[in-house]
Amino acid sequence: MIDAVRLPKAELHLHIEGTFEPELIFEIAARNGVALKYPTVEALRAAYEFTDLQSFLDIYYEGMNVLREERDYYDLAAAYLRRAAAQGVRHAEIFFDPQAHTDRGVPFAVVVEGLSAALADARASFGITSHLIMCFLRDLSAQSAMETLERALPYRDRIIAVGLDSAEVGNPPAKFQAVFDRARAEGFLTVAHAGEEGGPEYVWEALDLLRVSRVDHGVRSLEDAALVERLRRQRIPLTVCPLSNVKLRVVNDLTKHPLKKMLDAGLVATVNSDDPAYFGGYVGENFVQTAAALGLTDDELVTLAKNSIEASFIDDATKRAYLEEIERTAASAASA
Ligand code: ADE
Ligand code: ZN
Repeated sequence: MIDAVRLPKAELHLHIEGTFEPELIFEIAARNGVALKYPTVEALRAAYEFTDLQSFLDIYYEGMNVLREERDYYDLAAAYLRRAAAQGVRHAEIFFDPQAHTDRGVPFAVVVEGLSAALADARASFGITSHLIMCFLRDLSAQSAMETLERALPYRDRIIAVGLDSAEVGNPPAKFQAVFDRARAEGFLTVAHAGEEGGPEYVWEALDLLRVSRVDHGVRSLEDAALVERLRRQRIPLTVCPLSNVKLRVVNDLTKHPLKKMLDAGLVATVNSDDPAYFGGYVGENFVQTAAALGLTDDELVTLAKNSIEASFIDDATKRAYLEEIERTAASAASA
């Protein structure tokens, strides 16, 4: 059996604010003099019982309130990258939610400078490559998203793509068509959360109106055979997050997760952790627990790892190097 934790891989669906572990929340709250609603780390963790996406988002936005200084953003990203590197992650494409910070008065520059310094240091320390993806909060206005895009223009060299997250139902991709048109014209790639709680029509809109390179989640795509055929034919990757889907009750339990059906349908599915501090596991745990629940074979685990590299926004030479490393790991597991 292949070691799915050590298997080289890319993580492509990861909200940096969702890696904020309670211990670090308390540490940063104390140094910034911010009062928390919960008296202890244990009390905060005990509140992580979610019934749907919104019940999670409420506590997720509250946790990130303590982030104020460049050093806070640095510490957050540095902690994630250290853990990711220890779980076979060679490359990470990291979401951040600028409006959740700028709307509280934290300058855009503080967020981006803190995060990108941690990315550069992790590359030097662990060899992990990474990109930043800036997400618009879809429950805020299109106007606010456009202002955020304009704020990002001086940092174009640090941000590879724009994405769309937060409360999906009632906030369809169409709402952001003009912002995404502008983002593409400015040289950003595009991705979007779609088909998490929203139906297949959200995925169609993300493809047709936002021209996304990947769909984040996309689990509900399987309800629409024509959509599955489109995703398969165009090799449009889905960044699937199994433990997240169970915690937010998108699927009832891991044994019912459609990941294997996606692979069987020939889709470019990948495994990711979404908000690992809240959902019970980083990418390694997502691989191991999903493999056990669905009975995934070594070949399927290797396909998932290769899909993650293929679906990433790294250059072709680096892709080839990572794919060869996966091949070598697979070959040595097969001969062990
Ligand atoms: N923001 C952080 N995690 C998210 C998720 N799973 N869906 C939508 N928005 C998010
Ligand atoms: Zn997400």
